[in-house]
Amino acid sequence: MHLPSHLARRAIDIEPFRVMAILAQARALEAQGRNIVHMEIGEPDFPTPAPIVAAGIAALQAGHTHYTPALGLPRLRAAIAAFYATRYGVTIAPDSVVITPGSSGALLLALSALLDPGDEVLLADPGYPCNRHFAHFLNGRAVALPVDATTQFQPTAAQIEAHWSHATRAVLLASPANPTGTMLPLSALREMQGIVAARGGMLIVDEIYHGLTYGGSAETALALGDDVFVINSFSKYFGMTGWRLGWLIAPEAYIEPIERLAQNIFLAASTPAQYAALAAFQPDTLAILEARRAEFEQRRDFLLPALRALGFAIPLIPEGAFYLYAGCEKFALPGEDLARVLLDEAGVAITPGVDFGRYRADQHVRFAYTTTLDQLEQGVARLATVLPRFA
Ligand SMILES: Cc1ncc(COP(=O)(O)O)c(C=O)c1O
Repeated sequence: MHLPSHLARRAIDIEPFRVMAILAQARALEAQGRNIVHMEIGEPDFPTPAPIVAAGIAALQAGHTHYTPALGLPRLRAAIAAFYATRYGVTIAPDSVVITPGSSGALLLALSALLDPGDEVLLADPGYPCNRHFAHFLNGRAVALPVDATTQFQPTAAQIEAHWSHATRAVLLASPANPTGTMLPLSALREMQGIVAARGGMLIVDEIYHGLTYGGSAETALALGDDVFVINSFSKYFGMTGWRLGWLIAPEAYIEPIERLAQNIFLAASTPAQYAALAAFQPDTLAILEARRAEFEQRRDFLLPALRALGFAIPLIPEGAFYLYAGCEKFALPGEDLARVLLDEAGVAITPGVDFGRYRADQHVRFAYTTTLDQLEQGVARLATVLPRFA
């Protein structure tokens, strides 16, 4: 690829979010008439629930098309605080809620508030790739904590202690996590927060997959008190990926500087999206979301044993999100090549492990069950025709 003659180092160095490239390849094949089963996409296949859409349309018709305050619509900040009280029994101040363009905006704000050039943030490998790219973007450093099934694919307190350096400012966790779907109990979050706080750092917990849990509910890190950054979004559980709306909850002392960052970086989140999201916590919306959660659970319960039977190694049953992070050691190809072959020959799109880090990344691929049970069945049947050649 030919780069322009004047390009900043960070633009040269920033890695792509590879799953988007796979999606583009899959779409290109579809344009040629191929039928593709999509198991690469990290967003719900369901449309935004009707009450949210209706509230969005009403907001547009009512002329809510101007900027909101940089920290967000006060009514939405209050509604989010009220949701923590009803769903988790946790009291938070509406003033501690910052509305952002997706949790991507929240992650950027949190890391912008915490990292100076050269500062480090500790995070899981495998993990959501954009976080380490954000650190890089801010001239900070993402320090990988390699995780595997022995620790539920989550970092441990001992790892945090071992990797802490004079430059470490924060630890970023995700529960449930992408790509592994595993969760951290409150006891583990508490232990880690104690270690981080004792060293003068900050714990950031990405709770974007809250609500999409199968078996038990996820616990919010806000139950530990207000000395923590929590990130969440309307994208996944609420089915609003394209509306670009998320939130950040931060300790009070950080809110004013975060407001200045938000004013400068994006001014405010989308106004119609914020009005639409006011309908997200209504009982009729939550009933729709619960039915969808149950459907995701059914899909997981189909896909997990089916992939194991095909030879993929999935040592744990993930309790949340909509992903299966599968070991592909049994097949004679590294994950990236395997993903390419499966797209080309089976018409099944998946994501290679290298998108999520470096630790044993070649030996893994990620399946997303963000498509119908019918499609998943078809995908598995197609995989069964191609995989034996590589076993
Ligand atoms: C763990 C995690 N965090 C954050 C995001 C960003 O999502 P959004 O900006 O749509 O809220 C994603 C998206 O896939 C994710 O998986």
